[in-house]
Amino acid sequence: MRTKVAIIGSGPSGLLLGQLLTKAGIDNVILDRVSKDYILGRVRAGVLEEGTVGLLDKAGCGARMHEEGLPHDGFSLAFDGRDHRIDLLGLTGGKRVMVYGQTEVTRDLMEQRERDGSVTIYEASDVEPHDFDTTTPYVTYRTDGISHRIDCDFIAGCDGFHGPSRKAVPERAIRVFEKVYPFGWLGILAEVAPVNHELIYANHPSGFALCSMRSPTRSRYYVQCTLEEKIEDWSDDRFWDELRRRLPAHHAEALVTAPSFEKSIAPLRSFVAEPMRFGTMFLVGDAAHIVPPTGAKGLNLAASDVYYLFEGLQQFYGERSSAGIDAYSGKALARVWKAVRFSWWMTTMMHRFPDTDEFDQKIQEAELDYLTHSRAASTALAENYVGLPY
Ligand code: FAD
Ligand code: DHB
Repeated sequence: MRTKVAIIGSGPSGLLLGQLLTKAGIDNVILDRVSKDYILGRVRAGVLEEGTVGLLDKAGCGARMHEEGLPHDGFSLAFDGRDHRIDLLGLTGGKRVMVYGQTEVTRDLMEQRERDGSVTIYEASDVEPHDFDTTTPYVTYRTDGISHRIDCDFIAGCDGFHGPSRKAVPERAIRVFEKVYPFGWLGILAEVAPVNHELIYANHPSGFALCSMRSPTRSRYYVQCTLEEKIEDWSDDRFWDELRRRLPAHHAEALVTAPSFEKSIAPLRSFVAEPMRFGTMFLVGDAAHIVPPTGAKGLNLAASDVYYLFEGLQQFYGERSSAGIDAYSGKALARVWKAVRFSWWMTTMMHRFPDTDEFDQKIQEAELDYLTHSRAASTALAENYVGLPY
């Protein structure tokens, strides 16, 4: 088989890139290791920046998001037993975020891809990029025990943190920067109305908690936990008790509980691989970088990478200019590092660290006090939360 762009990975970055390319008339094929249903069963991000919303619209996949998604004009920082609202709309001159689950984004992109008749190969094993130091790269894979090969102009490595694309790069050609945090997030989904109409990020002596949502009847809640924690030790009752403990009293009293239907623990890390281009292969999204979820940036960074790469590929095929693809890694990394900084900062400010001493504790309290009483500091938070410009 031959295509222009072989995309490894059918997560949000691969699907969004594929959709933009298809709309621009640039032939592409997507390969994924797992099935469509498996991908749609993953519960991940929930908050979309305006830039991500705009890209989904540009890809022709925004209709259901605008109907069912929940635009949010602010969120609450809870500490010291009180709420402190961050007025995103007022502080950013009219910007807001959209609460719409990654699962739904993925479903909308997959369905549009099917309607367009673009090729996706699910359950492909042994996927491997080759010869990306030449202008004739190719990807090999197996399905039902049979080996296949896709020849292409470019490979887009959209295959997440554990995928084969970054691993195929020789060690001497890549630099990685990493920080692993000494805690994780235990998250649940439950069919209950959210405790508050806006998200609550809570800093509490027992640890961080986040109240988010997927719809007016479906809540997504998280509590900070240790890395040794086992999911089977967390009954629903234990989770609800812990969440209540970490919220201001009026929210704790208003919290409605129900049996959870999803429960998982995610570790927190910051990771960046540089550069994001290796000859005719590009790394996109989680394949190149991971951020802790505190700033809701993971999915949104995948989208901004796609924006820069799509612009570059469109220029390459439309104007036979490689200026855009040559600029890809530099432009994407400049934005990535700012989101890495923001996610690290918000994580540091909101969590209890095992080695926090009294000094660190006082600094954290001063930071929250400053943040919620200074318009300049709140504006910096809001500007980053709604998403820096592309
Ligand atoms: P992915 O979504 O990881 O997609 C990569 C795709 O590549 C997958 O479909 C995978 O099956 C495929 N793939 C992997 N290996 C191979 C292979 N060998 N061959 C072929 N295909 C392969 N972000 C937030 O902002 N908020 C959150 O609450 C949040 N929660 C998260 C929870 C978890 C458990 C994880 C893992 C991530 C979370 N994130 C969150 C981050 C966010 O979900 C990611 O940033 C986003 O999914 C990145 O999209 P992506 O398409 O780059 O990668
Ligand atoms: C969600 C996850 C986040 O990491 C975040 O900062 C906000 C919301 C969520 O899953 O809804």
